[in-house]
Amino acid sequence: MFEHIERVPGDAILGLIEAFKKDTNPQKVDLGVGVYKDAQGNTPVMRAVKEAEALLLKNETTKTYIGSHGDPRYAEVVLPMVLGQQGSAVLEAKRASATQAPGGTGALRLAADFISAQLPGKGIWVSDPTWPNHHGIFTAAGIKLNKYPYVDAENRLDFSGMLAAVQQIPAGDVIVLHACCHNPTGFDLDRDQWQQILEVVRERNLLPLIDFAYQGFGEGLEEDAYGVRLMAENLDEVIITSSCSKNFGIYCERTGCLIMVAKNQEQMENVRSQVAIVARENYSNPPAHGGAIVSEILHSAELAAIWREELTEMRDRINTLRRDFVAALKPYGLDAKYACVAEQRGMFSYTGLEPQQVDRLRDEFGIYMVRSGRANVAGFSHENLPYLAKAIAAVN
Ligand SMILES: Cc1ncc(COP(=O)(O)O)c(C=O)c1O
Repeated sequence: MFEHIERVPGDAILGLIEAFKKDTNPQKVDLGVGVYKDAQGNTPVMRAVKEAEALLLKNETTKTYIGSHGDPRYAEVVLPMVLGQQGSAVLEAKRASATQAPGGTGALRLAADFISAQLPGKGIWVSDPTWPNHHGIFTAAGIKLNKYPYVDAENRLDFSGMLAAVQQIPAGDVIVLHACCHNPTGFDLDRDQWQQILEVVRERNLLPLIDFAYQGFGEGLEEDAYGVRLMAENLDEVIITSSCSKNFGIYCERTGCLIMVAKNQEQMENVRSQVAIVARENYSNPPAHGGAIVSEILHSAELAAIWREELTEMRDRINTLRRDFVAALKPYGLDAKYACVAEQRGMFSYTGLEPQQVDRLRDEFGIYMVRSGRANVAGFSHENLPYLAKAIAAVN
């Protein structure tokens, strides 16, 4: 039965991790992997998370199923985190439904299966480039995938190209937008650009699906939600996939949420009932622990304050490293060439390094990143920046 099955190459990033492990260069630098790292190169458990887990362990009374939509206490805190703490018109109108999911990936798969089942025939449009798993998830759900441009030949945000392409998307199709910290490029839309996209989306009656995987990693928890809230408040229908993997550092707990915004409460409840079916068919109930951690933290003023401080520390570290990277290139006359790194946001950067330069950085200097030139900025440190700058100068 299995004789004809071909082996496919493994994930490029996993291959990079293996090669990095084997490299004996004492100065080697890993800029490939997609997780936050602190100054010591670790991905630690946040203090607020540890404290929440201690409370959960002490107070837990059951491990019964939590239902297809997950824990309502989790939904209670995630909805205002995403849509606004105070006076969210969308929440007041009760037109948003939250379904806890196994990570942002699980939420995206729910969205994809919902679209496939309930909105058949609709195409979906993703930025070129986008997080590679978008391709896999939407294609696996049988949805036709199309691309709109996002980066120009000079490694800048190609907003005019994007806007022109979005104006051509067939009416009624789904457009995937990154709320903030665009992965892989780090180029985000500014407020005026969000407004322009909103207008085209409205004109063409498109359905936005906003992937919100890095809330708090760009400019701040509230600032990063600007585009999401603009769309949700001004459109009848929006799909949002939120992840707590990065901002709570609970990658392995698989914690995310599918938020469906509908025209009114009645339609929201109808949509919600269909999402429950999709969840049930995929995995029945989501894993409980990660949602319980987030809920424990955000229901406690004290733990929430600790968490916000820790998140701010991570964000500030990344944004400082972005500026310091460009400063480290100044002695080599390369600061203008790589200035985009300081302007981008989030964990990732499209550095503009060419594949051949990436290969040389790996082979000659033990510096590892994806061949597209995407670097994980959290892999920079004040210790390795002089080495990185020297190596980049050598391959330029
Ligand atoms: C753009 C984007 N969306 C979604 C995800 C999925 O996140 P999760 O780990 O919560 O599944 C990621 C993770 O890297 C991402 O970069």
